[in-house]
Parts: sequence; C-alpha cells; structure tokens
Amino acid sequence: MIASRIRRLGALAVIVDPETLAPKDLPGEFAGLVYSGGPSSVYDAGAPACDPALLSSGIPVLGICYGHQLMMHQLGGKVVAGSPEFGRANLIVEKPEAILAGESGRAAAVWMSHGDEVVSLPEGFETIAHTDDCRFAAVWNPAKRLVAVQFHPEVTHTEHGDNYLRNFINLCGVADSYSLRDFLSSEEAAIRIQTAGRSVFFLLSGGVDSTVAFSVLSRVLPPERLYGLYVNTGFMRKGESEEVKAALGAHGIELHVEDASERYFAKLAGVTDPEKKRAIIGDLFLEIQAEVSARLGLDPEHWILGQGTIYPDTIESGGTKKSHLIKTHHNQIPAIQLLIEQGRIVEPIRDLYKDEVRAVGQLLELPRHLVFRHPFPGPGLAIRCLCSSESSGQFRAVQASGDLHVRLSAFGAQILPLKSVGVQGDQRTYAHPAVLKAPDPMACMRDQAQVQDLARMLPNAIREINRVLLFLAGDYPSVLRAADLSRERTERLRDADAIVTDFLHEKKIYDEIWQFPVVLAPLSRPARDEDAVILRPVVSEDAMTVAPYFMAPEFLRELCSLLLSVPGLGSVFFDLTTKPPGTIEWE
Ligand code: XMP
Repeated sequence: MIASRIRRLGALAVIVDPETLAPKDLPGEFAGLVYSGGPSSVYDAGAPACDPALLSSGIPVLGICYGHQLMMHQLGGKVVAGSPEFGRANLIVEKPEAILAGESGRAAAVWMSHGDEVVSLPEGFETIAHTDDCRFAAVWNPAKRLVAVQFHPEVTHTEHGDNYLRNFINLCGVADSYSLRDFLSSEEAAIRIQTAGRSVFFLLSGGVDSTVAFSVLSRVLPPERLYGLYVNTGFMRKGESEEVKAALGAHGIELHVEDASERYFAKLAGVTDPEKKRAIIGDLFLEIQAEVSARLGLDPEHWILGQGTIYPDTIESGGTKKSHLIKTHHNQIPAIQLLIEQGRIVEPIRDLYKDEVRAVGQLLELPRHLVFRHPFPGPGLAIRCLCSSESSGQFRAVQASGDLHVRLSAFGAQILPLKSVGVQGDQRTYAHPAVLKAPDPMACMRDQAQVQDLARMLPNAIREINRVLLFLAGDYPSVLRAADLSRERTERLRDADAIVTDFLHEKKIYDEIWQFPVVLAPLSRPARDEDAVILRPVVSEDAMTVAPYFMAPEFLRELCSLLLSVPGLGSVFFDLTTKPPGTIEWE
C-alpha cells in the first residue's frame, strides 16, 4: 500500500526485501527509502532488519511503525513492549517540518496499529509530532534526513496521509517524476522481452484485473499471438459469461468461452474445506487450459500462460517473504508458482493495487462499466457458498463482562458454530462470527453507532470472535447443516446475488459501494434444507482496509423481502465487520 500510494502521488516506488539491500545498491538507483511496518518486534529472533549503514548513506529514509522502531533501535534509541494501540489517534504537530511541512498544530486523525513503543530517541532526533498516547509519533533528524512515524500515513483513514507522503517525495527530490503512463510503457517493454517472440494463452475471469491485464497484453501482442480463454466454472454471476464476451468484443478483443461447469461440480462434490476448494478450482483451471491448448494444437514451448494477478493476491497468499498466509489465491497455487519460477507466466499488473488497475483501465479507454464493476474473485461464487462437512456445533450465547456485558444486554448475542477468515495484526485468523439479535434491527441500521461499537469491541475482547453480524430478517436459524457446493445451492446463491446487484443499480447506489459479497451459509431451522444469506457490502479504496456500507433501512427492508422470496433462503444477516479484523470474503 505504501508503494502504491507513493506511485499514485507521482514517484516510482518498488518493493525490495530488507535483507537484500546494501548501501552499494543505492547510488543512482534510489532517491529515498521507506522502512515499512510489519507484525514483528525488533527483539524477535529473525525480525526483519536492514543494513544499519543504509541510515548513513545520505538519502532520506522514512520509517513507518515497525520501520520507525527499527530505525530508532538501530541508531541507539530505546524500544519497549508498550501498550498496544489500534485505530484512530489525533496527531498534534509540534514542528511543521520534514513530512509534516505545511501542517498546522491542529489535530489530524492518524491510524495506529502497534504493540511495541519507542521510549527514547537516538542522538540528533527531535520530536515533530505527538498524540495523547504516543510521545514520539513523528521524529526527525534534519542532519541525516531521517524521519520516522509510529502511525500509518499510507492508509486512507490517516486524514493527511497523502500530504505526509508527498512531503517525503519532495524531500527525496523526485516530485512528479512518475505516472501510470510510464508504468504502461515500461511494462510493455518488459512484456516484449519476457515473451521474446512467444505467444500468450491468457486466462480471463471476467473481473477488472484480468480484463485490464489482457488489454495491456493486447497492446503488445498481435491477435494471433494472444489467446484469451474464459472458463465458465459454474460459479459465475448470472449472465456474466455473455456480458464479458460482449463487452470485450465491442472493444475489438476476442474471448473464447469454455463451459466446464459440469466438471467443476463433479470435482467439488463433497468437498467442504475452503483451501481444498480453492486448490481444486485452481488445478482444474490449469487442466482445462492445457486441454484447450492441446485441442488447438498450440506448441507448449511457444505458448506461455498469462493471468491478471495483482499485488494483494501475492501478499495474502504469503507470496512475499515477510507476509503471512491469509489465504491461497487460486492464481498462486504451487503449479502456478513453478511456472512463475520458470518464467512461463506473464502477469502485467502483478505489482499494482486495485485503484491503480482501474486507473490503467481508464488510460486504456476500456468501457467504464467494465473498469468500475465491483471486483469479483476468480473462484467466483464457490468461495461465497460456505460448506460444512457435518451438522454439528452449538449456537452459544456470548459470555461477556463489564461494559461489554452491559452493552450486549439490549441484544441476544450468539456465537455461530462456523468459522470465517479474518486478518488481525497482519496475521490470518480463522474464528467464529457473533450474531446480534436486536428487537428492531432496522432501527439499529438507522443509527449504527451502537452496533458498530459492538462490532469493534467483540473481536477485541473475545478471541474466538473475528466477525460480528446483525440478524436482519426471516426465520432465525438454529442448526448448522451438512452442505457442499451443490448445483442447487450455487443456483440459490446466484439468484440472491443477482437480486442484490439489480437492486443496487435500481436504487442507484452501485457506485457508492466498493464490493458487495453475498454469502450463503448452511444455517437452517431444524429439519429443513435452508440457507442463510449474509450481506457484506463494503467501502474501501484498495481492499486492504474496509468498512461496512450502510444503506437506508427502507432499502434494506425491501432487499430482505426480495431475498426471502428465493426458495430455500430462510434468513438474512448483515456483516458489520471492518477489515481488519475480518477479511471481505468469508472463506
Ligand atoms: P479479502 O477477502 O482478502 O478480499 O479481504 C480482498 C479482495 O480479494 C478478493 N479475493 C479473491 N480474489 N481469489 C480471487 O481472485 C480469491 O481466492 C480471493 N479471495 C478474496 C476479494 O473479493 C476482494 O476483492
């Protein structure tokens, strides 16, 4: 995110592993360095560290969060295990210098997420800003041009984050030196070198990423050297295949559609483990690609594979040395990793974040409705159709004490007997959702402060909870039933998803929402084969941090009754969780 923000602000930023960078690499290559945040403590064995000599090379260095602590620690300051601080704090500027140039003393919101704390500064450093709980929120050594902040300037919740980063770019003397047009031309040159006369067999999912990646390739490769394959896995949205083919066709790009839905349903029958589902989907993608290319008589030596991986896919799959596996994206499975190592995969937008991908899509003049469609995961509805191997587990009451107990007394709060993925402190969690049952759920959606507070407090207070739902409508379920990825459940979800998408367009709120997963969960009344539907509308910029989107309660009520008309859908829930602690998708 830091690199992405800096690029969007007009300077090229690349990501390198800290241990691989030596002072001799700097001259002429780098105008400045940023030491990023991360989950470690400087005292952990094997904690990431840079060569301390980088700090006296003369080029500006910005330390962020862990990077701040590392810089202070290496230069002789003191870091201790302090009181952890997560979320909003108010920054009071003492000296408007370095990255705080042009800032006044007035408090601006910054985002904190740290365990350890700096308690004394190395020689030559002065404090330029503090918060109520953090004495050394921003520090600066003018002689050495080293600056470090405990908060995260890169996240959108940090009010003046762009100003701080722009000031750092200025300090490095590289203002306005880069744009996405430069990205396009250097990427095109790289593709020419990588393909070196070979052709590309490209897998499209219909989403923004693969469409933009494919369009970048189509600028470099003539049509006979670029084959675009869209595999209908059976987990696409209603009308999706036809829509994508038509939209790309109108843009002069031919797409070949392969219907493999029968095979997907057969392979996934009885499979309930989320990671297994993803692995099967990814492997079958490759199998089908190999079959299609054999059928077309394409020489595997001459044809390499292309895909629309973006940077968050790599981070979340644990694909950078310092990141933790949050989930394996289908385009990062081991078979693909091997091809990447062999240089047999071309991924034109692998270093970009979603907002950059959209900006490239606009540069390429792709149709607006394609570029600004809500992102849709490659494995599609398969990862939104939760499965369970056995009917088991109890709906348990939430046990809380103190203030939380008092706040919960207005609600019936239960812990659901299923789990979903979350991300807390840069680590993957797999924990239970809690459900709030309110006497008047629509009133809670009108004035959301109360339920939002609970959604924040419950995962903080109770370890086994990483998500919080509000029960909206229908018959409250009481059992988790055994269920897999059957065609019937997938159709049920597809219908619910189409109802939601059509509704957003009809009410003209589609563009206010970043993404709106509709999740099917095998929660039912006893002795019925019902499913619950969970609404997960979110606002975000880059999918790394998100907040729930609240629509007008009248809209929500109307949407619930439309959804409850789908046969087999028994109840509707609303996901109140921010990211962190919950991811956008549930699996
Ligand atoms: P999470 O759930 O990690 O989602 O907060 C971040 C973004 O990534 C998408 N996503 C996926 N995309 N394969 C994909 O192609 C996957 O397995 C996958 N899981 C999540 C998600 O829809 C959101 O836009």
